[in-house]
Amino acid sequence: MSSSVEAQRQALLAAALAVRAKAHAPYSKFAVGAAVLDEHGHIHAGCNVENAAYPQGWCAEASALAVMVAGGGARVLAVAVCAQSTTPVTPCGGCRQKLREFAAADCPVWVADGAGVLVASFTLGELLPHSFGPEHLPLATPP
Ligand code: THU
Repeated sequence: MSSSVEAQRQALLAAALAVRAKAHAPYSKFAVGAAVLDEHGHIHAGCNVENAAYPQGWCAEASALAVMVAGGGARVLAVAVCAQSTTPVTPCGGCRQKLREFAAADCPVWVADGAGVLVASFTLGELLPHSFGPEHLPLATPP
């Protein structure tokens, strides 16, 4: 891995770790932080936001993507997720699909523990093989 990719990885992991501390997870007590790197080189971070009406809560990855879109990003070049568990915490199925909207199959998904230490690396294609995406809707016209 080149030093610049390593630097980006460390920056993404640090952003995911920092935002995890802001998670609103009073019900599960399971705090998650996520960060995405966009095509401009900007990092966008988000945490999970739970709700007393349980199904209305959302994941850290969804938060990070919303921040990215609001910030002018349109492509996800890398992802970091930070959470504490006995095994690496990968994005849930729904978030894999949400990431798929903006990321290519070779997009790295770096998973860190609760201390922000890398514990696993995947590509989005590994996590969501044979996926459905925007190119399957050739008739869709951009706004
Ligand atoms: N959660 C995330 O934020 N991201 C994931 O990838 C897995 C799960 C959140 C949702 C919920 O607030 C809590 O973790 C427990 O499922």
